Amino acid sequence: MQKLIINGKRPLRGGVTVSGSKNAALPILAATLLTDESCEIHNVPQLRDTRTMFDLLRSLGKDVEVSHNGTVLVRAGGPLKSVAHYDMVSTMRGSFCVLGPLLAKLRQAKVSLPGGCVIGVRPVDLHLKGLSALGADFEVENGYVHGRTSGLVGKQIYLGGVFGSSVLATANVLMASVLAEGTTVIQSAACEPEIGDLGECLNAMGAKIDGHGTPIIRVTGVKEMDGVSYTVGPDRIEAGSFVLLAAATKSDIVVHNVNYGHLLVLIDKLEEYGMKFRHENGSLYVECPHQGKPVSVTTYPYPGFPTDLQAQFMALMAVTPGVSLVVDKVFPDRFIHIAELNRMGANIRREGNAAVIEGVKEIYGAPVMASDLRASAALVIAALAANGTTEINRVYHLDRGYEDLDQKLLGLGARISRMDE
Ligand code: UD1
Repeated sequence: MQKLIINGKRPLRGGVTVSGSKNAALPILAATLLTDESCEIHNVPQLRDTRTMFDLLRSLGKDVEVSHNGTVLVRAGGPLKSVAHYDMVSTMRGSFCVLGPLLAKLRQAKVSLPGGCVIGVRPVDLHLKGLSALGADFEVENGYVHGRTSGLVGKQIYLGGVFGSSVLATANVLMASVLAEGTTVIQSAACEPEIGDLGECLNAMGAKIDGHGTPIIRVTGVKEMDGVSYTVGPDRIEAGSFVLLAAATKSDIVVHNVNYGHLLVLIDKLEEYGMKFRHENGSLYVECPHQGKPVSVTTYPYPGFPTDLQAQFMALMAVTPGVSLVVDKVFPDRFIHIAELNRMGANIRREGNAAVIEGVKEIYGAPVMASDLRASAALVIAALAANGTTEINRVYHLDRGYEDLDQKLLGLGARISRMDE
């Protein structure tokens, strides 16, 4: 295992370029299971999670070739297999979105249950509810979901859950419905840009989808899906993480390859904090105040404040004097980072699905432990803002979702190095 060593309290400068979206790339790669033709997917970030998806596709019978520039070529490598094994699905929940495409293509699938993780229980009831409505029958046995169908048929489906819409359940049902007979309507569909991106890719493969990226998606089933050449959009969570990192270090930087519309809620909150933004040709120019104001946020499904930026936002509030409140309504247990931030001198207490942050003037470097992907990004932000040296252990969490992070931070002038634990 590796750790990151960061010397903080150094203003950053210059520009950084955002990679392709991890959460868009994963279902788009799964969508290649819907066709026997070749698919060329561009701008795929090279990460632990995308590599897990390449291996999963290979284990299902695809031939996957990855080039250095982020282009991934997926071709039929033999007959498609229907079993997604525990070792791949358990390391990454995104793997579960092969269920919909496999059912649509093979009429059967056996996919390991992803299980819980440190951010909460994370059930799959909505995935199974939506796919059952299309005509699949499921049995859960020995930790695997076995799905079978005599042929999927379009249906009107309400897919909302207790915590609102589900991103990957929407992806699974959408991918299954493109080959279902007749018309499918998904109500309370997730509106995240990653679903919009998936819908665009599926349409480029020959699907007939309207309304992707809105709460109501309509799909007219087709008999076959074609190959495709498709470019994944930029990662809004990575972009947001760089903007928050600039705020916490009071640095004026430029973030390139940004979809401004996807970041509006963050920009709105940070304007309240005191930041100024200028957007030009896909680049976001960020200007920070000498002293920002505390701002409270509540996470919601898109276009609300993303739960995937909650921990990073909390790191900023931890070093912003005054009191703020961060509420997570998507994953109410996603607060494991509080204890680590407090070890660095932050003053945060959890109250149910909320964190009360009493921002302090200074935090200090300390050895800390990364617990999940976004919590790790919060620790990087805190470390860059802290006095002294921080050691972030179990950095593999970070490598799941941030491409070339060390190099990108070095390019901004950060003092960061990596070594074996
Ligand atoms: C995706 C993202 C993840 C992000 C999350 C919320 C990927 C690979 N991951 O995860 O980074 O944090 O969206 O934006 O895209 N739920 C149910 N039943 C279900 C499914 C979900 O109750 O069957 C609940 C979850 O426990 C959670 C809420 O719905 O409270 C939203 O989760 P969901 O949108 O499904 O998250 P993922 O798609 O797994």
